[in-house]
Parts: sequence; C-alpha cells; structure tokens
Amino acid sequence: MNWQMARRAERLNPSTIREILKVTEQPGIISLAGGLPSAETFPVAAMREATERVLREQPHQALQYAASEGFGPLREWVAEELWSQGLQVQADQVLITTGSQQGLDLVGKVLVDPGSRVAVESPTYLGALQAFAPFEPDFVALEGDSDGPLPESLEAARGARFAYLLPNFQNPSGRCLPAARRLALVERALALGLPLVEDNPYGELWFDAPPPPPLAAGAGEAAVYLGSFSKVLAPGLRLGYLVAPRLLYPKLLQAKQAADLHTPGFNQRIVYEVIKDGFLSRHVPTIRERYKAQRNAMQEALRAHLPADCHWQPPRGGMFFWVKLPAHLDAMALLPAAVRAGMAYVPGSAFFPHGGHANTLRLSFVTASPAQIGAGVAALGRVLAAAEAVA
Ligand SMILES: Cc1ncc(COP(=O)(O)O)c(C=O)c1O
Repeated sequence: MNWQMARRAERLNPSTIREILKVTEQPGIISLAGGLPSAETFPVAAMREATERVLREQPHQALQYAASEGFGPLREWVAEELWSQGLQVQADQVLITTGSQQGLDLVGKVLVDPGSRVAVESPTYLGALQAFAPFEPDFVALEGDSDGPLPESLEAARGARFAYLLPNFQNPSGRCLPAARRLALVERALALGLPLVEDNPYGELWFDAPPPPPLAAGAGEAAVYLGSFSKVLAPGLRLGYLVAPRLLYPKLLQAKQAADLHTPGFNQRIVYEVIKDGFLSRHVPTIRERYKAQRNAMQEALRAHLPADCHWQPPRGGMFFWVKLPAHLDAMALLPAAVRAGMAYVPGSAFFPHGGHANTLRLSFVTASPAQIGAGVAALGRVLAAAEAVA
C-alpha cells in the first residue's frame, strides 16, 4: 500500500526529551531529566471526594458530551482568578483546553501558514516548537539575557505572526522576567503591531515573591494567554485554558471543535468541585514549600560539585536549573557517561529553535529527594571533571 504522508508529517518529530527519558528510566538512575511535577503534590483525597460528589450529584451531565468552550463555572473561575492577577478577562473569552499543550496546537493551527514567521525565545519550551513546527513556520530566535528576551530583539520579528513568550520561571531556563522588562517588551510589541502568545504554567510556583503581572495584562487585544492546572493540581487531568481576543476566539473554538469536540466535562466538573472554595490557596503553598527546599538542595549541590567554570542562576520558582558548561563541552555527548555514573539530565540544544548551544543542560529538582539531588549532582560533577581533564 502506498501511504503518502502530508508534508506536515515530516515536521512531526519525536520529543528529544521523551527519547532521552526512555534511556534514563532504568532502575538505579537518578533522573534530573524529567519535566514532571512531583506526584507527592497531587491532591488525591480532594480529587477522590470531588469525583464521588460529581458522580453522586451530576452524573448525567458529567458523563454527557459538553460545550466546546468548556464548563461555564470553570470558565468563570478562570476569569476571576486572572482578574486578580491584573488581566481584565471576561468568562466568554476563556476556552478550556486539553492541557495548555492543546492551546499551543490551536494557536499554531489558527495563526501559522507555511513560511510565516513565529518569534520564540532562545532557549524556549520544546513542546511549543513541536506544536508549531507542523504548520511550517520559520522560527525567529529572539536574543535575550538573564532577564529574558531583549525588547530590541523584537525588531527582528517585525511582521511575524506572533512572539511566543514564557515570562515566569521559564522551561527550560528557570528565569523570570522583571516587571520593567515585561513593560518594555509589551511596549515594543505594541509599537511593532506584533501579537504575543504568553504561556504561563509555572507562575504560581514562586518561592519568595509572586512574579510581576502577566504580559497580557498590558497588551489588551494583542495577546493570547495560556494557563494550566497541570503544575498546581495534576497533569493527568489534561486541563488548561486559553484567553483570546474576541477576534480570534471563534476560530480557536472551531479548531478545538475539530480537534476533540471538547475537553472532558467529567474532569472539568471534578476540578471545579475541588477548587471552587479556595482549595488552591491552601494547596499551592505546600507545593511551593516542597519545591523551594528541593531548589535549595540543588543549589547547594551545584555549588559543591560542579567545576568552577560552569554557570547557572538559582531559579526563584518553577522546576528547573539551567546550566552552562564551558564552551568546549557537549552535554549530549556526555549524557551516556552521566547515565553510567547513575544520573540523567536533558541536553540543552533541543530547546533552541535552530539547535546549537551544545554546552547547556537542564536539571529538574522537583521529582528527586534532596538526598538524590545531592548524589545526582555529585555524579554529574565527576563526569564533568573527568571530561575537562581529557579536554
Ligand atoms: C512551558 C510549558 N507550556 C506548556 C506545557 C504543557 O502543559 P499542559 O499541557 O500539561 O498544560 C508545559 C509542560 O511541561 C510547559 O513546560
């Protein structure tokens, strides 16, 4: 049989991270590679109670097909929550999505033509590159520093369909944009007529102080905002949301209808039952406290074990450290030695739209215990020291 694949299928690539995770999921390996939240934070009892309540009180509605826009009370909740963060949103601008990953796919489908330009940070979230790539954009890599993309770098994106930005505790770099950088980016984007797509799954996971207001708060109709319940409740729910300007909303909704009709109404009702009475304001602080202790353990371990010519900034939230090795070291080439030494990380080059940056790597601190973090980073330190001795 002559199956002929669409051109876009060529752009569908396996996630480097998932491929690496397969190799590293061996017993005895301390994996600092994954991007998963800690399963210890999943609110199992609250989910169980809410599930029973939904099945007892609204079984038929919960198990029936539902509206593509999402469950009304949950959309209202999202709109109210975002108002409290400075985003003036009405519930009818909220589209509940099957994870924020689906939001990225819908944005790609509605906004990207083959050969059109999409501006991304460098590095950026690999899953977004994967989501946009099948629509065949030309990626424009925005130059940045430790405070995020440089406002003047947006000039290079003039005429792009949008700039995809992650202001809070970015995956993979962990950095958070200061308020002044946010304002400058929004001002420049508005002046250029460049729309923004803001992705914020980590904003609630701050350790010392909440991040400044979202970019979308100052961008009005010029921004699409994506949020997620994956990191504050559980990723297995596959529950996220997007907020879109009125001009775009109907097309995003139609794209969602074509993709999956709607996000499971059962999950939406359960999550609404869990969160409707302020549960997150009690639950999320426990995640912050846990992750902060793990961040501290990793910071100490990196200081103790990494050669002096490695560089990193301790993140003030989120789940990741981003490490720069000396320029002559290649994190992908060193990974097998790291796995033999008992630990795993993600080489950084997959996070760059045009590859390169072989001397970077990402470490997650949320799924390993402080003791495992110490042992894993010590093993990494030995591998790097040995590589430097050879070089
Ligand atoms: C930056 C970023 N955006 C989006 C997602 C997708 O999250 P979800 O689809 O679970 O909401 C992730 C997942 O790790 C992420 O790191």
